[in-house]
Amino acid sequence: MNLGKKIDKLPFYITRILRAASLVGDQRKIRVFLVGGGVRDMLLDKRNFDIDLAVEGEGIRFSQLLQQELGGEIIKHSDFDTATLKLSDIKVDVSACRREDYAFAGALPRVSPASLEEDLQRRDFTINAMAISLNKDTWGELIDLFGGRRDLRQKQLNVLHSKSFIDDPTRILRCLRLKVRLGFKYSSSLKKLLSQAKEKELLRLVNVQRIRDELILMLKEQEPYLQMKELNFLFGLKFIDESINISNKDLRLILNAQKTILRLKEKSLLKRELDEWIIYMMVVVCNLNKKNLASVLAKMRLRRGEEKRIVDSHRKEIVRQLKTKITSFRIYKLLKPLSFEVIVFFYVKEKNRILRRNIIDFLAKYNNITLNISGKDLLQLGVKPSSVYGKILDALLKKKLKGKIHSLTEELEEARAILRRWHFY
Ligand code: CTP
Repeated sequence: MNLGKKIDKLPFYITRILRAASLVGDQRKIRVFLVGGGVRDMLLDKRNFDIDLAVEGEGIRFSQLLQQELGGEIIKHSDFDTATLKLSDIKVDVSACRREDYAFAGALPRVSPASLEEDLQRRDFTINAMAISLNKDTWGELIDLFGGRRDLRQKQLNVLHSKSFIDDPTRILRCLRLKVRLGFKYSSSLKKLLSQAKEKELLRLVNVQRIRDELILMLKEQEPYLQMKELNFLFGLKFIDESINISNKDLRLILNAQKTILRLKEKSLLKRELDEWIIYMMVVVCNLNKKNLASVLAKMRLRRGEEKRIVDSHRKEIVRQLKTKITSFRIYKLLKPLSFEVIVFFYVKEKNRILRRNIIDFLAKYNNITLNISGKDLLQLGVKPSSVYGKILDALLKKKLKGKIHSLTEELEEARAILRRWHFY
């Protein structure tokens, strides 16, 4: 099958890369292929996808030659002779064709150079193990050695061999993710392998940080609720930590969170892009006690900012106060230091009417309010830097939140009035 015509209909920012790869390959007499998810997505008529190139030669060297044609910035991964060429609108992964050997289940593979055919053989699913030749004489030719096209037609997932999950148990999570994303089914042999994987607890053999990365990818998918539902149904989440146990009701919180985020965005109540996956992760760990949460987070080794937000999602004292009728100033003081992810999580998790009202008021009104006055202005008013500054600023903020002062002039006027009242003058 030749996909040359299909390639020509792709957006220009993709075709120009494939053409450049073709040119470099021909000039250097190197066989070069589009591989992996890009081929799958192209056959599924998706117009945008990641570009993974495989070359029968040196991966990093090829990426440098490609850079000469396209510009961009290279990030090298020398262990696997792969490189990522970052262009302004897309990134291109270039790897040397390789075979992989796994010393034991869950280990990282030992790799050695190989032909394209061997490279395809090491891959996870038939639909991900196809390639399209990019050299001029074979431009657009589909290489499908394992029935990938058949499985795409039948909308099913299949591994290439029965040891695939043993070689790399993270593929179990990739399998669920792809199944849910594409709305495919598992082939009957794959179903058996999944239940064997469960029996043998293969997911427990992998380093938790690799599991974390896969979990984050699942939570970043279009339908994180369906992703987690599938995972919880087939494997549960105890392979991450014995203490993680989520019910269907918890899972529905993910769905509610998806809907809430959409609504808040429609109403322009979120002032920046959210890391939505963090909110879903908060749901995953929402039932843990302090000790278990700390141990899960220690294992996961998230980035510091990510971890902080998850820890904040457990701040019950803030939730308790938000459930009561409190002043705009109090709401501001409670919520302003928190990230939007935490605030949205509180909104979704707690069905309490007062808390929800307080949060919406914060997002719609108070969050945008800041003082124009600065310490320098207070100094000019004759106040020496001290704890009084904070008190004056808080008093001004209270007034501003109530809508009683607006401009810098009004703030300065009010500051003078406060100082008089406090017998400063
Ligand atoms: N791959 C694999 N085993 C893994 C990870 C990746 O065999 N554990 C192979 C698959 O052939 C996959 C390719 O490497 O298609 C590229 O991996 P990646 O970019 O992670 O996946 P994509 O298939 O491109 O999926 P996505 O659309 O989610 O990016």
